Amino acid sequence: MSLIQLEKIRRRVSICTKCDLCKSRTNAVPGKGYHKSELMFIGEAPGRSEDKQGEPFVGIAGKKLSIALEYAGISRDKVYITNVVKCRPPKNRIPKESEKKACEHYLKTEISLIKPKIICVMGNTAYHSLLGGSNITKNHGKIVKKNGNLYFVTIHPAATIYNQSLLQTLKKDMKTLVKTLNGIKG
Ligand code: URA
Ligand code: SF4
Repeated sequence: MSLIQLEKIRRRVSICTKCDLCKSRTNAVPGKGYHKSELMFIGEAPGRSEDKQGEPFVGIAGKKLSIALEYAGISRDKVYITNVVKCRPPKNRIPKESEKKACEHYLKTEISLIKPKIICVMGNTAYHSLLGGSNITKNHGKIVKKNGNLYFVTIHPAATIYNQSLLQTLKKDMKTLVKTLNGIKG
């Protein structure tokens, strides 16, 4: 059931014109992954590679994410990966409040259909949008309960591109995430 509804969301996203980001995009980028995943990962917005291919986290940041997931024994096809906004902002600027608001319905629907056990917010944009948080450097690794959902806070994979120590941070956080998930499952 959720698979069919997710497919509907994908199609709506791919033709969406609810905000101005539709004017500059090549492709909208719907979420991707397993429709019954226990883990959902939320980034900021598509970058250049994602805009070209229409898939989330397929560029360099995606490569870093894959490395961290693999380190923690998480298989990419067993999770669901998406973004706060589904179209690339020009020059990768941070999405505006109005754009996030226009796109919010899709993300909320993805969460309610997949019902992940833990939602991993990656970076300040996702952290702020979903939890009203700031200062990811200080708050990464935290677990937050909100409106019946469980969230795990981590840094954005793009931050690790030229920073080996942040890649270590991301990798360690992914291990903590797995431990937390296993803890919930008992
Ligand atoms: N950065 C993001 O936030 N999302 C992507 O899909 C790729 C890079
Ligand atoms: Fe629609 Fe979201 Fe793309 Fe804006 S960013 S056009 S709301 S899919």
